[in-house]
Amino acid sequence: MIVTENLTKIYRVGDRDIEAVIDVGLRISDNEFVSIVGHSGSGKTTLLSMIGGLTRPTKGKVFVDGIDIWSLGDKELSKLRNEKIGFIFQFSSLIPTLTALENVMLPATFSQNKKKEVAIRAEEMLDLVELSHRIDSYPSQLSGGEQRRVAIARALVNKPKIILADEPTGDLDHETEKDVIDLFLKINKEFNTTFLLVTHNIELAMKADRKLVMDQGKIIEDPND
Ligand SMILES: Nc1ncnc2c1ncn2[C@@H]1O[C@H](COP(=O)(O)OP(=O)(O)O)[C@@H](O)[C@H]1O
Ligand SMILES: [Mg+2]
Repeated sequence: MIVTENLTKIYRVGDRDIEAVIDVGLRISDNEFVSIVGHSGSGKTTLLSMIGGLTRPTKGKVFVDGIDIWSLGDKELSKLRNEKIGFIFQFSSLIPTLTALENVMLPATFSQNKKKEVAIRAEEMLDLVELSHRIDSYPSQLSGGEQRRVAIARALVNKPKIILADEPTGDLDHETEKDVIDLFLKINKEFNTTFLLVTHNIELAMKADRKLVMDQGKIIEDPND
């Protein structure tokens, strides 16, 4: 599902080069749940954002479903991103002036689906995250954990094959954090969604099929190597 070859990102800041990710080669199978742990600054976010088609690599390749994503034009790349990849980040950034339902519908409206069908699918996703009773609430009327669940429903609305989650539970209390991870595991099983999850929480990382460790831009531990 995801393959990277010699994936490298060097940021140029002033006259200094920062090697954020260095020669990462990864293979993630269909339906696999992979976690990544590592110190702050070890390159996790940069790696995820190159895999997700958001940050252009300095060197190397990313294949998603067999497609060399960084060889695509901007339009094709954003289409692939919208159709195949769901993003869940720590600060979920729901749109404050839209209700929970409208927030979840948003990614699907880009792919020109019929509005009514989109609304039905968005309601299904909110049901999955157990928020059916809050579809008309605005983000400010929801708790942090509920907002996170809306963001998860939003990431799922296009039924992506891949979910990239970057410390999605970082600011949640322990119980809510556990609930969110259990929800990910359920989605992984029910929809055959491939997960790549960055987390600080080792206990949660251990629940994955495979746990990778990053340090100074490299994967220093991969059970498959
Ligand atoms: N946009 C950027 N410009 C310059 N340097 C960056 C940028 N983003 C990240 N970095 C640097 O790249 C390294 C890896 O960062 P990051 O991928 O965010 O690590 P992590 O997510 O593991 O904390 C860090 O040294 C960070 O300061
Ligand atoms: Mg990060």
